[in-house]
Amino acid sequence: MNNVTAFNSALAGLSAAERLALIATQFREGVVFSTSLGQEDQVITHMIARQHLPIQIFTLDTGRLFQETYDLLDRTIARYKLPIKAYFPNTAQVEKLLLEKGPNSFYESVENRKECCFIRKVEPLNRALKEARVWITGLRAEQSENRHALPFAEWDESRQLVKVNPLLDWTYEQMISYIDQENIPYNALHNKGFPSIGCAPCTRAIEPGEDIRAGRWWWEQSKKECGLHQEKAH
Ligand code: ADX
Ligand code: SF4
Repeated sequence: MNNVTAFNSALAGLSAAERLALIATQFREGVVFSTSLGQEDQVITHMIARQHLPIQIFTLDTGRLFQETYDLLDRTIARYKLPIKAYFPNTAQVEKLLLEKGPNSFYESVENRKECCFIRKVEPLNRALKEARVWITGLRAEQSENRHALPFAEWDESRQLVKVNPLLDWTYEQMISYIDQENIPYNALHNKGFPSIGCAPCTRAIEPGEDIRAGRWWWEQSKKECGLHQEKAH
């Protein structure tokens, strides 16, 4: 798509709910949304459900999520009566990894951690996006330095689709007050010091004043991304 820049400008002038509606009407088919069940994603699911938008929702069940995240998935499906398809890692790849390196290899090196993230997240994501024309995410610019310069819409060359971030310009406070106001279900861990939640062995609670992503892969110095939004699709 070569008019992504124009689409990006059109999205900038709209509210988040209007952005989702525009994406759905503009593309009609092949619009998918990846939810990690994080607060951003819960806001987007709510807006999709409220407007009855033809957007397929999926999650990547890495097999290592918190019980609280599975509970939230259950509550979300019950509340919105929408299917949320879970993509699971390739069995043979997980079995090989466990046999060769054991269940906690990610703590040993960045290379091992990326290998686990590739098997449990990136490969299933690539499968989920295979037929998609548009990929919606819950990324917000404020979340990290890596995300400050993101556009609302961009062409993802490696996956051959348009990637859209409808909540890009939302602040944390804006998101929390919208969740309160609309009574949107959220992960019980958010009230226990977990602002950003990924896999259980790779997420810890943060102390007051710490960066909101400090609890993700906390034993690593600089890497706070798992490869979903950085590396090329394979
Ligand atoms: S991550 O790269 O650090 O793991 P983060 O947790 O901030 O990502 O989530 C950013 C966006 O990536 C989410 O809004 C969602 O669109 C997508 N995402 C992250 N994890 C998953 C997951 N397990 N399943 C589906 N989408 C996910
Ligand atoms: Fe594996 Fe941790 Fe990455 Fe989850 S976040 S896929 S457990 S390395």
